[in-house]
Amino acid sequence: MGKVYDFDTPVRRRGTASVKWDEADRIFQGEQLTPLWVADMDFQVPDEVTNALERRVHHAVYGYTAISEDYLEAVKNWMRKRHHWAIEEKWICHSPGVVTALNLIVKGFTKKGDKVLIQPPVYPPFSQAVLNQERELVMNPLININGSYRMDFEDLEQKLSDPKVKMMILCSPHNPVGRVWTKDELNIVATLALKYNVLVISDEIHSDLVFKGRVHTPFAALSDEAAAHSIICTAPSKTFNLAGLQISNIIIANPEYRKNFLRQTHHFSLGEPNALGVVAAEAAYRFGENWLDQCITYIDGNVSYVSGFLKKNIPDFKWTPIEGTYLGWIDCRTTGLTKLQLQNFLIHKARLALNPGSSFGRNGTGFVRINLACSHRLLEEAMHRLQDAYMRAQTHTIHEQH
Ligand SMILES: Cc1ncc(COP(=O)(O)O)c(C=O)c1O
Repeated sequence: MGKVYDFDTPVRRRGTASVKWDEADRIFQGEQLTPLWVADMDFQVPDEVTNALERRVHHAVYGYTAISEDYLEAVKNWMRKRHHWAIEEKWICHSPGVVTALNLIVKGFTKKGDKVLIQPPVYPPFSQAVLNQERELVMNPLININGSYRMDFEDLEQKLSDPKVKMMILCSPHNPVGRVWTKDELNIVATLALKYNVLVISDEIHSDLVFKGRVHTPFAALSDEAAAHSIICTAPSKTFNLAGLQISNIIIANPEYRKNFLRQTHHFSLGEPNALGVVAAEAAYRFGENWLDQCITYIDGNVSYVSGFLKKNIPDFKWTPIEGTYLGWIDCRTTGLTKLQLQNFLIHKARLALNPGSSFGRNGTGFVRINLACSHRLLEEAMHRLQDAYMRAQTHTIHEQH
């Protein structure tokens, strides 16, 4: 057993130009909000990452930087070790971020008039990437059965059978509903996508963050056919809290697709990494496993706490069981509040910055997304504030106040 990490002692982030902490009041138009929204962690990274960055900073020359063989080897080994996925180093393509990659992929692999399928409620940049390139969105909404989500395969087949649907963006594991899709579910997606010749873009940025007993299956690991008809978007940014260092790995087995993707990144001069990003990512992939395992356990503890607290004290805020990610999805529809009332209540009464569910798609209305990658103490404070505000609001009949 290596070092035992302390995730419990809060690290000051206010005043560090943090989007999550320093921009929350402005973005949500509130005051002194507790920021439990945008998906980064409040935790410090593994020591090995900090040490590697320190060494690199001492060199003090930051010229144009290449992706090294050592870096590629570290990514390859990580995929084999954590996901039993054998990739080749040449499959790994750089992009500063997954959202950048999604936009490039929609642009480079579809044309105007083509349709792209997504599965709401889902991470909002999916629909934006499609609309940014003036492609048409096709929705295959997830089904919520008593709080658990599954895919609607009948609807999926019907939509994929439209010859204009050329691409599907899969979120695996799924943000915001927290599903870690099973191999069986993914096999059905693969079968349908192959049957109707639809390219699958699998966003697996959350794949390292799955709870005990759950297994993430990379879409491209399903079969050689699935690998040949997909692009897998991965990154160390969620896993190791490196989002500000702008590095992701887009893994493409199909050489034609790879050529096309690299053409897109070169076109916009996005092919070379941030000099510090590669250093941090390589150290994280090489040495970060112990930190990550402890981090997942800590987040799992936060999940148990929040789900238990809501069930016991504010049952109108219903927890959705999650299997991975550090994002919770709370069903607030029983409160009877409208979208605007709910948002006003959270911001002005509970003073919490949470992502409104409606931003994830129409079937997210009435839900909120909460980020659990923070200290336990912060969540306790937030939960008690939510409970107190809700009790007060109920006695004052909040419905009439807005
Ligand atoms: C599913 C998903 N994809 C991509 C991203 C962001 O990726 P990046 O910062 O690499 O653009 C997020 C961040 O929350 C996410 O949840």
